[in-house]
Amino acid sequence: MCLGSKKFRTFVSGYAGVSAITPHSAMNPKSLVAISDISKDEILRLLEVARYFEQNPNHKILDGKVVATLFFEPSTRTRLSFETAVNRLGGRVIGFSDASTTSSSKGETLKDTIKMVSNYVDLIIMRHYLEGAARYAAEVTDTPVINAGDGANQHPSQTMLDLYSIYKTQGRLDNLDITMVGDLKYGRTVHSLLMALRHFSPRFKFVACDELMMPREYMEICDKYNIPYEVHTDFSPEVINSTDILYMTRVQRERFSDIMEYERVKDLYSLHNDMLAESRPNMRILHPLPRVNEINPDVDDNPKAYYFEQARNGLYARQALICRALDIDVLNNQSHH
Ligand code: CP
Repeated sequence: MCLGSKKFRTFVSGYAGVSAITPHSAMNPKSLVAISDISKDEILRLLEVARYFEQNPNHKILDGKVVATLFFEPSTRTRLSFETAVNRLGGRVIGFSDASTTSSSKGETLKDTIKMVSNYVDLIIMRHYLEGAARYAAEVTDTPVINAGDGANQHPSQTMLDLYSIYKTQGRLDNLDITMVGDLKYGRTVHSLLMALRHFSPRFKFVACDELMMPREYMEICDKYNIPYEVHTDFSPEVINSTDILYMTRVQRERFSDIMEYERVKDLYSLHNDMLAESRPNMRILHPLPRVNEINPDVDDNPKAYYFEQARNGLYARQALICRALDIDVLNNQSHH
């Protein structure tokens, strides 16, 4: 059996998961826990700022600022791109990528860790393996917190780079055919992306086995916003050939308690280059990475493969998010402090 969502909610008063459409009042308004914490206008503004940073990646506007990256779960892209973003903006980074080297291994609570780190820094960027941990962290400190992924729940900074990648490759965000494939149940990237795209009239196709299908609450969000969606267990040519954005995801071994169950479903959906022959000319393949077997390396040289450029876009999107969290209006060259 799949492990199921490992939730922090038993410790968190007011944790509301996917239904949390507005920021919690107890939270610094510059925190970003779920993509639904920010409006469509704010998303569009952040994309403009990301575009500015793509043209000006070394703008030194964080002089004197210290940012903490607290990673309780492994990461390559998210941590390194956030840290690169701070460095390119002229700030400094402290933090850890292995919580076993910190006092949490001695039993220090997350609340105490966050309150301590808040004494030292201007911004906390945190990844945690429990759903709701980022919301909880944001509620126990006045320091802004950016969620760098909480269990199977949300990954809003990934969503910003995904939106930026979609915009760059399609020239728009509106009215696109978006197909999500793989682990849609525990995939926090697809959950966040769906929430963001609800503003932009998408048409979704969800391709997954029954065990890993998009959770009902996200389909209910689609219903609420009149977003059409199709559910497929077959990764058919018809699906691939009627898609603008093919968003592949990894079946996440770390979310399974039964390794036999993981082995049964892990390779059900695998994209190969010969499957792309009849795809739309504008179609692009995205993947949050890391990938395992769901995209064969023979796809990498296809001009429709965009996942490595997508990861590069993470730097610019995260520079924009850091400036938002620190209340720096880059386009008007102002800090509100
Ligand atoms: N996409 C993503 O979150 O990658 P990492 O786990 O390497 O940070």
